[in-house]
Amino acid sequence: MRIQAEHLSYVYNEKSPFAARALNDVTLTVEEGEFFGIIGHTGSGKSTFIQHLNGLIRIPSSLKKRKKYKSDTVLRVGDFDLASPKTDFRALRRSVGMVFQYPEYQLFAETVFDDVAFGYKNFAAEKPRKEELEDAVRSAIEMVGLDYAAVNDLSPFDLSGGQKRRAAIAGVIVTKPEVLVLDEPAAGLDPLGKQEIMQLLHRIHREWCKTVIIVSHDMDEISENCTRAAVFSEGTVKYVLPPAELFVHTDELRELGLDIPLTAKICEALRRRGIEISCDFTADDLVRKLLARREGIC
Ligand SMILES: Nc1ncnc2c1ncn2[C@@H]1O[C@H](COP(=O)(O)OP(=O)(O)O)[C@@H](O)[C@H]1O
Ligand SMILES: [Mg+2]
Repeated sequence: MRIQAEHLSYVYNEKSPFAARALNDVTLTVEEGEFFGIIGHTGSGKSTFIQHLNGLIRIPSSLKKRKKYKSDTVLRVGDFDLASPKTDFRALRRSVGMVFQYPEYQLFAETVFDDVAFGYKNFAAEKPRKEELEDAVRSAIEMVGLDYAAVNDLSPFDLSGGQKRRAAIAGVIVTKPEVLVLDEPAAGLDPLGKQEIMQLLHRIHREWCKTVIIVSHDMDEISENCTRAAVFSEGTVKYVLPPAELFVHTDELRELGLDIPLTAKICEALRRRGIEISCDFTADDLVRKLLARREGIC
């Protein structure tokens, strides 16, 4: 499903003294098949943008009471027209899975099984049969790398931090959404936990979830994993580029309060010493280019 936003704006608490403009004329397309990154400093509008994608935040023209609302805002996710009040938002939520920041804080059921099953029942078109539900829950728990027999009967609170995060993700992927959106999926985990989450997301992307969108403040995560990334700043989109083209804008990114990947820092340090290396900013490619250069010299 292709995601297309045009002239998308959003103000929290509009018409109140606490009004906060979170999005300002955002135009952005994410193609089906992408592993897309969203970056930007705190308060730049990232979370507000992604909450539009499954209709958690509705644009005014989609609210029935304002049928005559005139606007040039376009928001489409595949065939879903999120500007229309006729859209089946429940079906949309089945197709667009949303994993919030620190999703493990939302685990609530008595067992891991019940928690994951809740995600399925919540979005199923009709009440699922017992076997169908069990199959879906088992497959989701296994997909996130947990041992079904070992964890399904445990309380989610008995799991480790990384396991809890994965159980929470299982509760979202249990409906096999075509688009999966995750707000800082690896935040707060140790390096191994982060790596496991990214591997898990790539596996899901490879096997059945066509489009993955991650919000991240970790530039290494973006350069290593994403097809393209959008840079948000004060509610607007400053760049939408593949990492190879984005991270040459080091000064501009720093001005926006953003970091750059370690690979880009290494290229910068080399440049200061008169060595020009051009790479796509993955560690693998940088090493390849450095070795090729050394061999050229020897
Ligand atoms: N629930 C809310 N009520 C009022 N203002 C909000 C709310 N959520 C976010 N904002 C404001 O909207 C702007 C964008 O926030 P957000 O989308 O959360 O940014 P990010 O995810 O990039 O940190 C910020 O100025 C923030 O203070
Ligand atoms: Mg946020």
